[in-house]
Amino acid sequence: MSATLTVTTSTATYPVIVAAGALASLPERLAGLGLHGALWIACDGAIASTYGEPLAAALRAAGRTAHLHVVPSGEASKGPEQLWRLYDWMIGGGVERRDAVLALGGGVLGDLAGYAAASVLRGVAIVQVPTTLLAMVDSAVGGKTGINHPLGKNLVGAFHPPHLVLADTATLATLPPRELRAGMAEVIKHGVIRDAGLFVELEALAAERGWDDHREGQPFPGWNAADAALTERLTAIIRRAVAVKVVVVSSDEFERGERITLNYGHTIGHAVEALMGYGPLLHGEAVALGMHAAARIAVAMGLCDASLVARQLRLLTAYGLSVALPPGLDPEAILATTLRDKKVQAGRVRWVLPTAIGSVVVRDDVPEELVRSVIM
Ligand code: NAD
Ligand code: GLY
Repeated sequence: MSATLTVTTSTATYPVIVAAGALASLPERLAGLGLHGALWIACDGAIASTYGEPLAAALRAAGRTAHLHVVPSGEASKGPEQLWRLYDWMIGGGVERRDAVLALGGGVLGDLAGYAAASVLRGVAIVQVPTTLLAMVDSAVGGKTGINHPLGKNLVGAFHPPHLVLADTATLATLPPRELRAGMAEVIKHGVIRDAGLFVELEALAAERGWDDHREGQPFPGWNAADAALTERLTAIIRRAVAVKVVVVSSDEFERGERITLNYGHTIGHAVEALMGYGPLLHGEAVALGMHAAARIAVAMGLCDASLVARQLRLLTAYGLSVALPPGLDPEAILATTLRDKKVQAGRVRWVLPTAIGSVVVRDDVPEELVRSVIM
């Protein structure tokens, strides 16, 4: 698979590059895309000295005007306060319509900076440079941007497709292993919803490395930059997972149909996250347990064979993910929270359920009793 994928929708066409070391090519790529104005790099605070300052220096060395602004790490930054600081920085610094914002960080930074770019001067270009696995395979691709509202996550936002997504997998070397494992939940999710070959490749890698041998081995330990064969293999896996998102958003940019399948595992996952408060469980960790619950519902509804649940569980466990509901959560509260899910339509919860590895259906007729039985 080529390192460059392409999103093509009715409103935009843009390249998505997934490669180790891709950051070095950014100055040349920006020029190639006709982005000749000033560059406004919004950078996650945890990676400002590792990647933000070197990137600004490299762009300046290439003759570009590059400004750098650091946003504190964490979900709390995805709100009006940090959004306003971005406006102050750009408007105070003389931003022009021909300029571009570069979002360097995970999904929090990408969503926040993407929304700032969508709204400042009624819209300037955004280039997404994701540095977490979740942002690479999910949030940086597809144009969803936004901030949180006290009444809920991602309730204020806009579709603002990027001019370019550049995922340098070498940046994953510094990502905390827990964040990396949470991102693997999304990679596995993409295998289940649309790419059986990706799922099989993840199984093969886990078997070769002994991550799936629960008596003898340890699960996926995280990125190891010293293991060139492994990083190359993982980069190819990540590219394949990104390709699933590219195909889905190309066919359904505004979530009128297939894009909802990306929410596999999210009905229970979001409910658990909302009840626990964002933080104790990472998003991917919540999605993993939601995928397990959804697969069990699918088996009970006769949509797929029980072996799917076992295979998915083995893979999630191999990549260090638990499917157990956190203790102390009230199943009735989980059930009630699923009814407030953003994807509820006409009062009916739309569940994404697997029919086989690589294929899912959307159903709004899952009996409450069945949901109760998988979360008790
Ligand atoms: P995040 O942005 O909070 O990043 C996770 C942590 O990793 C942070 O502490 C960050 O400082 C750190 N970090 C980032 N890159 C690093 C690196 N290379 N090395 C070391 N540390 C690094 O979390 P996330 O999981 O990337 O994103 C979650 C957000 O994404 C949520 O707000 C969610 O709503 C959003 N999201 C958006 C979409 C979309 O389509 N727009 C899709 C899925 C999720
Ligand atoms: N993360 C779901 C979507 O982009 O639609």
